[in-house]
Amino acid sequence: MQKKTVRDYIRTIPDFPHEGIMFRDVSTLFADARGMRLCVDQLLAPFAGEKIDAVAGLEARGFILGGAVAHQLGTGFVPIRKKGKLPGPTYSQDYALEYGQATVEVHKDALPAGSRVLLVDDLLATGGTAQAGIALLERLGCDVIGCAFVVDLPELGGRALLDRMGMPVHALCEFE
Ligand code: PRP
Ligand code: ADE
Repeated sequence: MQKKTVRDYIRTIPDFPHEGIMFRDVSTLFADARGMRLCVDQLLAPFAGEKIDAVAGLEARGFILGGAVAHQLGTGFVPIRKKGKLPGPTYSQDYALEYGQATVEVHKDALPAGSRVLLVDDLLATGGTAQAGIALLERLGCDVIGCAFVVDLPELGGRALLDRMGMPVHALCEFE
C-alpha cells in the first residue's frame, strides 16, 4: 500500500468559517507524528544549501510550522502577528483576506537589516497575508529568500501574485 502524502492528512470542512468556503484543515496533519515530520522535511527541501538567518511565521498556523522549521534549521523564529498582540514598537500592514480584512505587525527590532529570511505559513489563498508579511520583513531591511506553504489554493491567485513579485514559492500540495 502507498504511504500517505502530506495532502492525504489534510481534512476538508465545508462551509467553515462561512458558507461556500471549503476549509482545508491542517490540524489533522499536525496531529500526526509522521505527517508533521514529512511536512517540516518537505518544506525545507528546496532551500537546502541556502544561507538562511531566520524563519518568520504568519499567525496562527504559520507559528506551528515556522517554529518546527526554525528548530530544524538551527535558526531563530520571528512571529508576524495579528494587530495589537506584540508588546514592543511595531510596523503594521493592512491586507485583504479570502473572507475579510486584517492587519499584521512585526517588531521593529525583530531582525537586523540584511537578514535572509524564509517565510512560512500553512496555506496560500489570495496571497494577501503572505504579501503583507513580505512587506513587513522588507521594511525591516530583510531579504525574503522564499515562502514555504503546506497548501496552495491556486484558483485564489496567491501563487500568481507571488510569482509576479519574483518571490520563490514552495507549496507541498494543491486543492482546487
Ligand atoms: C489563513 C491561513 C493563511 C491565510 C491565507 O489564516 O493560515 O495565513 O489565511 O489566506 P490569503 O492567502 O488569502 O491571505 P487566517 O487569516 O485564517 O488566520 P489564522 O491562521 O489565525 O486562523
Ligand atoms: N485560509 C484562507 N482560505 C482558507 C481555506 N480555504 N482553508 C483554510 N484556511 C484558509
